[in-house]
Amino acid sequence: MYILGIESSCDESAASVLKASGQKTEILSNVIASQINIHAQYGGVIPEIAAREHVLHILPTIDSALKQAKITHKDIKALAVTQGPGLITSLIAGVESAKALSLIWKKPLIPVHHVIGHIYANFINRPQAPKFPLLALVVSGGHSNLIYMKEHYQFKIIGETRDDAAGEAYDKAAKMMGLSYPGGPIIAKYAEEYRQSGQKSTIQLPRPMLNSPDFDFSFSGLKTALLYQLQKDKNWKKRLSEYCFAFEQAIIETLIHKTLKAANKYQPQSIVLAGGVAANSALREQLSSNIKDKLPKIAFFLPEKQYTTDNAAMIASAGYFNYYKHKNKAFLDYSRFKARCDLKI
Ligand code: KG4
Ligand code: ZN
Repeated sequence: MYILGIESSCDESAASVLKASGQKTEILSNVIASQINIHAQYGGVIPEIAAREHVLHILPTIDSALKQAKITHKDIKALAVTQGPGLITSLIAGVESAKALSLIWKKPLIPVHHVIGHIYANFINRPQAPKFPLLALVVSGGHSNLIYMKEHYQFKIIGETRDDAAGEAYDKAAKMMGLSYPGGPIIAKYAEEYRQSGQKSTIQLPRPMLNSPDFDFSFSGLKTALLYQLQKDKNWKKRLSEYCFAFEQAIIETLIHKTLKAANKYQPQSIVLAGGVAANSALREQLSSNIKDKLPKIAFFLPEKQYTTDNAAMIASAGYFNYYKHKNKAFLDYSRFKARCDLKI
């Protein structure tokens, strides 16, 4: 069967066609109209501009996704769309478009939680799907979560951020250092330069909540600690790559510590990494080698990089597995379907 995925929760209008049968999934198209270049001029996402751009681009994006997949709307089983959380004016563009298409095409709708979508990026194009129980580390611009799944489409949040998300901390730290939006990829680039130089950094930044008894995160204090160090150091611009490295390592080491701690308690069969920050090569490598060394019995999964930052392939995948588990109960009538900026898992 074919599922059409639609995503518009922040600054990406995206559509994708997924072909699926049983546990096997294949992405036939993955189209993204990104607004990053527009928002970069302002140093962050401007909701009003994002909403206008979504309205302009969402239908052509859906059209391209169907054409690239070489199918028509008649072939699809259902539309899966991000219901929330996110910027409400951005979400509305995707949700209301999906509702209109559902009504005209007479195809059912599957609502998808954005964070669940990120987790299901790990189930795309897999010869061997992650096994349950599963532990997911979801790190994006809006979320930092540890989520335990006993089986498909069953979620228990066991850890979350108390303040800034990991990606948000990257973005705010980049702004403090005069770097462009989004901050993650650019800080990662400088950090990698420093890592490759083989030098030993003398910059000390805290690893927040490392020893707290729970699995929660907090990245706001780390960002402030960086700010104070920059203010004290007249030469910080000359040490930019070292500051980026120290900041990135503080985030990565905290994420790894908490993930391993949760894995020790919950004993999952698989660990999956997800969300925009999962595009970070250093996090991918360091988390992977830590799991291999310390928890060799647990299988570790990473989404392909194209499915880490916001995309609709992951939404189609989550929608499909919702249907796989709940059959027609996964469907929501268009008249009861509303975008929700504060949607809970
Ligand atoms: O999942 P995503 O596209 O949007 C949200 O759901 O929030 O994540 C975007 C976040 C941004 O904060 C961005 O800076 C971060 O992911 N990000 C990265 C990298 N690429 C994107 N952070 C660290 N390293 C990267 N390579
Ligand atoms: Zn996201």
